[in-house]
Amino acid sequence: MYSTVSYLNTFSGSPALIVTMLVAPVLLLLLVPFPPSSGAQLPNQGQAKDLPIATNGQPFPWDRMRLPKTISPLHYDLTIHPNLTTLDFTGVARIELDVHEDTSIIILHAKQMQISNVLLLAPEGIRPLHVLEYPHFHQLALLSDSVLTKGRKYEVQLEFAANLSDSYHGFYKSSYRTSSGEVRVMASTQFEATFARAAFPCFDEPAFKANFTIRIIREPRHIAISNMPKVKTVELPGGLLEDHFDTTIKMSTYLVAYIVSDFLSVSKTTQHGVKVRRTTDAVMHPISVYAVPEKINQTAYALDAAVKLLDFYDNYYDIPYQLPKHDLAAIPDFQAGAMENWGLSTYRETGLLFDPDRSSASDKLGITKVIAHELAHQWFGNLVTMEWWNDLWLKEGFAKFMEYISLDISYPELHVDDFFLGKCFDAMEVDSLSSSHPVSTPVENPMQIQEMFDDVSYDKGACILNMLRDFLTPEAFEIGIIQYLKRYSYQNTVSSHLWESLTNVSDVCSDDELDVRAIMDTWTLQEGFPLVTVEVRGREVRLSQERYLKTDDPSLTEGFLWQIPLTYMTSTSNTIQRFLLKTKTDILYLPEEVDWVKFNVDMSGYYMVHYAGEGWNSIIRLLQHNHTALSGNDRANLIHNVFQLVSIGKVRLDTALELSLYLSRETEIMAVTQGFGELVPLYKLMEKRDMAALENQMKGYIVDLFRGLIDRQEWTDSGSVSERVLRSYLLLFACVRNYAPCVTKATQLFNKWKDSDGTLSLPVDITMAVFVIGARTPEGWDFLFEKYRHSMQMSVKSRMKTAMTVTSLQDKLTWCVHLASYGEVMKTQDLPGVVVSVSKNPHGYKLAWDFLRANWHTLIKKFDLGSSTISHMVTQVTNQYSTREMLDEVRSFFGSLTEETGSEMRCIQQTYETIEDNIRWMDTNLPLLQAWLNKRSHKVAHEDL
Ligand code: BES
Ligand code: ZN
Repeated sequence: MYSTVSYLNTFSGSPALIVTMLVAPVLLLLLVPFPPSSGAQLPNQGQAKDLPIATNGQPFPWDRMRLPKTISPLHYDLTIHPNLTTLDFTGVARIELDVHEDTSIIILHAKQMQISNVLLLAPEGIRPLHVLEYPHFHQLALLSDSVLTKGRKYEVQLEFAANLSDSYHGFYKSSYRTSSGEVRVMASTQFEATFARAAFPCFDEPAFKANFTIRIIREPRHIAISNMPKVKTVELPGGLLEDHFDTTIKMSTYLVAYIVSDFLSVSKTTQHGVKVRRTTDAVMHPISVYAVPEKINQTAYALDAAVKLLDFYDNYYDIPYQLPKHDLAAIPDFQAGAMENWGLSTYRETGLLFDPDRSSASDKLGITKVIAHELAHQWFGNLVTMEWWNDLWLKEGFAKFMEYISLDISYPELHVDDFFLGKCFDAMEVDSLSSSHPVSTPVENPMQIQEMFDDVSYDKGACILNMLRDFLTPEAFEIGIIQYLKRYSYQNTVSSHLWESLTNVSDVCSDDELDVRAIMDTWTLQEGFPLVTVEVRGREVRLSQERYLKTDDPSLTEGFLWQIPLTYMTSTSNTIQRFLLKTKTDILYLPEEVDWVKFNVDMSGYYMVHYAGEGWNSIIRLLQHNHTALSGNDRANLIHNVFQLVSIGKVRLDTALELSLYLSRETEIMAVTQGFGELVPLYKLMEKRDMAALENQMKGYIVDLFRGLIDRQEWTDSGSVSERVLRSYLLLFACVRNYAPCVTKATQLFNKWKDSDGTLSLPVDITMAVFVIGARTPEGWDFLFEKYRHSMQMSVKSRMKTAMTVTSLQDKLTWCVHLASYGEVMKTQDLPGVVVSVSKNPHGYKLAWDFLRANWHTLIKKFDLGSSTISHMVTQVTNQYSTREMLDEVRSFFGSLTEETGSEMRCIQQTYETIEDNIRWMDTNLPLLQAWLNKRSHKVAHEDL
């Protein structure tokens, strides 16, 4: 099964112990239910219930999921030989060990690979080691017949072989088709969080940092790239080539990367660290972008962005980039958005490739943000790494936050600040359920670790950092994180290390002693977020806090207390006032009586506000008469808060709808999109029930509200990024909602485009609207599909794909899901997106739900249990259900799962809670909504007379 290369036979005299852990890859092919997979997932416990038994029947000498700390790796020498014809790989790992306590057992990770010829290279000579395997925990035990003594240097050497993975993690296969139809195969790695062990035997925990020296064997028609620059290439007998890469600095296993492909690259050299070193010893760092040959002409934007952003971080962090080069590679098959491997970050093609003529303003924003994110990790995560995955937020929340800090300074024209609060809304959505979890949460098994890559770690993490920065001042915050990075370089940290560094700085910067840790522990160690109720009585402002929670059970909100850095302004002063609310209730005194107060200015804090008494009415009056007295972000924040308060019964739906009326004069992107964000879901719930009359009334109300703004949109690409993003959003909405002037225009444009055989260049911002209208007819859909098949422009393809899933033609929807499952014309990496998009379609939601259920086992095998891909699919496919029947159906499916097939996943609880919340919402509010819409249409009809 495996190709043998001569170097693997070097130690052929030693006992060959072959451990088979391979699970045959299952291809995702059809829409029909697949047979259940053999279930290679892990159980929940961190400690084996009984004494673990190795695969050969002997007792396995370690019963925990975490590795012992008796031995740690110092250096890995890895030689890897992928065979892109037979789709497997072989390798040799030689690991230098540091023995901290005398022992005769070495426990390390390996997953689904054959292990052979395992040797101990001790000062007294070379000896074979006995190998036991415990696949349950992905562990190997190497047993020595003599004791390894503390302080002495040892090495182990293992040979291994496995198939290239058919998923998107470990060492996996990717392929693409050239414009002439030829299929080309390549191999790439994705190790975070627990998949380095599927590519080579290793101590696969982030705190086991070591140096890596990597060699890759390849055919001359391919190239190999890895974390470090290549130092030489050696020709092997038989014509293969072996690339030797320089040794890395100390790093975690999850950051190792290598790619064998026929990619081309473009490069620029940048002079990093000029400010940092202030001397003449600045080092030149080449930056390169790699992509498949036919897309290399779409890499210029990413290359410039990477150079600019790496320079930014060099200066901001006051620490030079640590490696001699950085490569960015666009991989044709990629599950996540991107990955920060040290020196070789990897991306989805849509996340890196940019065509100035065909990519949109939001593509540009997205690509710049992804690069900013992965480069931020080169310091936050790579140089300083969390001790364990419970503190994943330390790097992910930070990198998410740095996307905004870096773009704000390096790309002011992108106005990234306009969008930050969207992250806090996203985080609050999951954080308002009782199934949420604290930012720092204990995790043990790979599924739980995967689940940490969620909106809580990323978005809540970023939002609480933003709140802290605002509270401490940007200057003090920057000094604190520089201190943190310098102090813990090449080491591992826990959250409190960050708080200590920031406390030290705030002591210097202010007279008051601030306990940053005490404040921040309330945000990272307890789940959820506070609702602050504000009641103004004369000059007195009464404050109280409680947990905001969407539940029937009030006992769940008890016992929570936050230290909340409140900000506010009033009708008489737009200077931001601050107050740290530490207790359950408190009172503030204003210098004079005011018409209104607005708390959480610009939404720089992670909390919601309820304006009790006359509070909401005075805000509604303000928005009606003078909405620009508040910033666009403040307006978006108010829209969000008022509708969310309806969900928990604090505010009547009428009040929220009365507030929404001012939106007819709104023009700022976040307030407009938040208006849509609160109103559209109401009719989306109805679309999945039999209530067309009210549904259409609601749709009519929303179109009416934004009619003026829609009419004012030009069908061109002019304006700022925000204006452009808003334009494509509005025109798409108008077309989907059948707003006649838009449909007419889009139809004309689609026909013109079709008549030109797709050569006519449409303004980028309007293509989504035009494609969606085109995809309504079978001929239009087929034409779009033909263009999709042959396009090399990733962003154009992505818009066509979305348009094809928005159609009401059921057979076309089925075909889309089929195509993405099959993976030939539409890549399987896009299947989750297609399924979610189809599930939002009133003509496709049943199809999506049936598909999810029928293909569950294949999906979790391909995309991995606990991954954000799987949880996204689960929550998105079901979150617009609002009936008890649907809840029963959803419960019955997820209730039938076993631990191995995902029954423990948090997303299942989120799904139940969301549907329960929808049911409650509909029960309480449907009559009110009906009455309010009726009253309004009477009023409008009356005004028209
Ligand atoms: N470290 C992650 C990639 C990752 C995600 C690894 C999930 C393992 C599991 C990377 O830095 C990341 O956060 N990528 C984001 C994109 C980013 C712009 C938010 C992603 O893939 O969604
Ligand atoms: Zn990240």
